[in-house]
Amino acid sequence: MKTIRVNASKEYDVIIGSGLLDSLGQKCSSLLGKGRAAIITDSNVAPLWLDKAVASLKNAGTDVITYVFPAGEDSKNKETLFGILEFLAENKLTRSDFAVALGGGVTGDMTGLAASLYLRGIPFVQIPTTLLAAVDSSVGGKTAVNLSAGKNLMGAFYQPELVLCDTDTLSTLTPETFADGMAEVIKYGVIFDKELFDAVKGGNVDDIENIIARCVELKRDIVAKDEFDKGDRQLLNFGHTMAHSIEKCSNFEISHGSAVAIGMVIAAKAGAKLGFSSEDCTDAIVEANKNNNLPCVCGFAPEALAETALSDKKRTGDFVTFVFPEKIGKCYLKKIPIDMIKKIASNV
Ligand code: GLY
Repeated sequence: MKTIRVNASKEYDVIIGSGLLDSLGQKCSSLLGKGRAAIITDSNVAPLWLDKAVASLKNAGTDVITYVFPAGEDSKNKETLFGILEFLAENKLTRSDFAVALGGGVTGDMTGLAASLYLRGIPFVQIPTTLLAAVDSSVGGKTAVNLSAGKNLMGAFYQPELVLCDTDTLSTLTPETFADGMAEVIKYGVIFDKELFDAVKGGNVDDIENIIARCVELKRDIVAKDEFDKGDRQLLNFGHTMAHSIEKCSNFEISHGSAVAIGMVIAAKAGAKLGFSSEDCTDAIVEANKNNNLPCVCGFAPEALAETALSDKKRTGDFVTFVFPEKIGKCYLKKIPIDMIKKIASNV
C-alpha cells in the first residue's frame, strides 16, 4: 500500500493498494464523521463494486444512499449532473454528509462537480475504478461535464477529501479500458519521467501499484505548483488538444485514452516538423502506443479536428497553449496562433 499526500488548497491522501474498498467506511468515518454517504456510480461499476462499497460504509455505521446513471461518456452532461443534484436534494443531504464517486473519469468528474455545486459545496471522496481515473482524473480536483460544443467545458476546481484507489477494481477492466489508462501513463512518462516511459513502453505492466503511485506523485508535484492550471499544470494536456477534437469528431465513439494516444503522436510529429521539438519523439511514442494496444492514427480530416479545437478550453483569444515534447521525459508549453492548429492537425 502507498499513501501520497496532495498539498493543494485542500490537503488529502491518495491511498493506493489492494483490498482498500473494505476500509472505505472506516476511513470515511474517521475523516468525515458520521454523516450520510451518497455513492454515485454508473451501470457498469454498480454490479461489480457497489455492494462492497455500501457494506464497508454501513459496517462503519454510515447511512448510504446510491445513485446509478447509465455508463458512458454520453452521460457526462448537464442532464446527468442535474439528476445527481436533484437526487442529493430529494434525499436532503446536508453539508455534514458527503458524496462518493465510485467509478472512472466520467463518474469522478461529474460527482466532483455535483459536490462542488450542491449547497455550495459538500465533501466528496474519489474511488477510481479505472486505470485512467487512478493515474490522472481522480487526483487534482478538476471536475466537469461536457457541453454540446465540446468536452469538459463546464466545470470547477474542487478537491476531494480522499482518493482511495483499490487496485483490485482494475481486475475487472476490459483490455481496451486498461489500455486507455496506459495512454495517460505513457503521457506522464513523455512529459516528466523517461524512466517511467521506459518501464511501460514495452507493454508489460507487472507492478501496477508502483506505476499508479509514480503518476500520482508526478501529478501531486504539478498540482502543488499550479493547482488552477495557469502554468505548468497545462503540461498535463500533452496530446489533449487533438484528443478532445478526436473524441468530439467521433461522437465519443473513440475513448479518451485512445484519443490521447493519437493526440500525442500528432503533437510529436508536429513538434518535429515545425522545428519546435529538439528531438523527434514520434517513433518512441508510436512504439509505446502499439505495445500497449493503443492507436496512433484516426481518419478525421484535419479541418474538422482544427475546427473543434477552436472551442478548446486551452484557447485564449487567438492563441492556444500547446504542449510539445522536447525529448522523452521533458515537454514544454508553446503559445501558438490558432491558425497553426490546422497545420498541427494535418499530422493526423
Ligand atoms: N488531467 C489533467 C489535469 O488534471 O490537469
